[in-house]
Amino acid sequence: MTATALTSRRVARVVRGQPTSDGAGVKLTRVIGQRDLDMLDPFLMLDEFRSDQAGDYLAGFPDHPHRGFETVTYMLAGRMRHGDNQGNSGLLTPGSMQWMTAGRGIVHSEMPEQEDGLMWGFQLWVNLPASDKMTAPRYQDIAPERIPQVQPADGVRVRVLAGELDGVRGPVSGIATAPVYFDVELAAGARVALPLPPTHNAFAYVYGGHAQLGPEEAPTPLRRGDLGVLERNGDELVIAAGGEPARLIVVAGRPLGEPVAKYGPFVMNTPEQIMEAIRDYQAGKF
Ligand code: CO
Repeated sequence: MTATALTSRRVARVVRGQPTSDGAGVKLTRVIGQRDLDMLDPFLMLDEFRSDQAGDYLAGFPDHPHRGFETVTYMLAGRMRHGDNQGNSGLLTPGSMQWMTAGRGIVHSEMPEQEDGLMWGFQLWVNLPASDKMTAPRYQDIAPERIPQVQPADGVRVRVLAGELDGVRGPVSGIATAPVYFDVELAAGARVALPLPPTHNAFAYVYGGHAQLGPEEAPTPLRRGDLGVLERNGDELVIAAGGEPARLIVVAGRPLGEPVAKYGPFVMNTPEQIMEAIRDYQAGKF
């Protein structure tokens, strides 16, 4: 049997997030969904929220609607209470993930359940194919202990939230874009190659330390707050830490290649569908 060598994807470009605020005045960094990176099909938005100043997050995200896509919240620190107009509620704790398929529509709130201390995490928006935009809302609330941790190399720990690594599958299931979502931690000097489906668009976002990404002969250095958009060529991503530990998320999804019509919390395929979403929301049909 002949083994075929895998090829590491290269970093096509590096993007820095823009400071902004959303909800009722929560300060955050928008990395996807801003001037320098409008979207990376199927990913519409990536926010990092990180503050130990209560005034930056206390106002939270009171009742607001979503239709036509998925919101994915991954908490690193802090506690966030979630509730919606259909009676669903839950508490997001450190290390947990909520993958919410908004589908035809929900109205929900996301409010901090703490008055001080560090609040840190990510919210990613993932588009739905036209055929699923009006599906029934669905939640996958995943407690930290349900997320498997894999050690694919010395000094490397990967929490597998979605997708597969070394035969271990993440708990998120049944998502149209077949996503991969890894939370990766490398000790100083560690190195790893993570498989990524060649069909998928992918990015890596460094949230601690710094790392070199891409093939050994031509790596790209990324520091905290850098998002690397990966080239489509290749079936893995090589990551190497330098003289200090590095932490990053590596996320991939099957691109939809469909027209996108966006208006705030509604993401559909045509302007007419956006008008319909606004009318339905105003008529209380969510
Ligand atoms: Co929301």
